[in-house]
Amino acid sequence: MSVLKYEQIKVNAALEKELAAMPAPLRDIVGHVLLAGGKRLRPLMTLSSARLFGAEDAGLYDLAVIPEMIHVATLLHDDVLDGAATRRGRASAHVLFDVPRAILAGDALLAAASHKTASFGIPALLTCVSESVLMTASGETHEIALQHSMAHSTAEYVDVIAGKTGWLLRGSCRLGALYAGASPEQVEAVSDYGLNLGIAFQMVDDALDFADEAETGKPTAGDLEEGKFTPPIMKYVEFLNHPDREKFCEKFRAGTFTPEERSKVASDIRRLGFDAESRALADEYLDRAERSLEKLPQRFEQKIFREALGFVRNRKS
Ligand code: IPE
Ligand code: IPE
Ligand code: MG
Ligand code: MG
Ligand code: MG
Repeated sequence: MSVLKYEQIKVNAALEKELAAMPAPLRDIVGHVLLAGGKRLRPLMTLSSARLFGAEDAGLYDLAVIPEMIHVATLLHDDVLDGAATRRGRASAHVLFDVPRAILAGDALLAAASHKTASFGIPALLTCVSESVLMTASGETHEIALQHSMAHSTAEYVDVIAGKTGWLLRGSCRLGALYAGASPEQVEAVSDYGLNLGIAFQMVDDALDFADEAETGKPTAGDLEEGKFTPPIMKYVEFLNHPDREKFCEKFRAGTFTPEERSKVASDIRRLGFDAESRALADEYLDRAERSLEKLPQRFEQKIFREALGFVRNRKS
């Protein structure tokens, strides 16, 4: 069995324990998303970071579930914000249950994650978790402000994705380093790695938005429906000629694409290779992440951090 598979099994067992400890009315809806698969990338980053700095004890899995609980909370909320009907290959929680319960389940997971963090008695961990949640909410809110806009810069797009996705991956790496008592310089280096990995991760997610739902477990072209001006859509608009471009922009601003139009745009984007070109934008951030690794100890976990760069670049789901 690969190391990663083994870690996933251990993380899943720790998450099941967290779910069982939740108040009964929350268990069905929280479990629907928490135990529906998922790559468990954030816990892996926390485990690897803690071990890179020499921590190794059974309690590490208790630490590693924290960013996954926060991640799942943000997924519950994000699917309400995005009106997304599927997640992790299942009906979204707000569809299967309802919006009020999906929001409450997310809130409950955020509270349970804070509770768990506090149980370590290390204030710096709580600071790390709080700032990660705060910046995620800020990024998601910034994104809403830009919805249906085609006027903002790439720099502003990067700001949004750094907030909504980068900060939690940053926090996942930082948490392990803080727990292990790494030096301030090393904590910053591993945090920079996580932030840049997270920015790259979201760029690839935005390319994958146009893949088949069978591969991603999420709606195809959801970003188009929601008016998120992501790189594959930017490239598609540049490619279109008058008058198709004007028609497309009008529908984008008004949010009036039909399902047929969305699937046509998705297959065009794939055929023209704009998803692959968008994926390549992640390279700059993966390079930055890689450079941060030079400042970190040369231990086995460096290999996992390096492999994560390639995984994020090439992932299919
Ligand atoms: C999805 O995250 C949400 C984003 C930040 C893009 P993942 O792609 O890590 O989702 P799971 O956990 O594997 O389902
Ligand atoms: C979501 O970005 C990031 C967070 C969950 C905070 P997306 O909206 O692109 O994520 P998916 O595609 O629904 O997983
Ligand atoms: Mg979404
Ligand atoms: Mg979203
Ligand atoms: Mg997405």
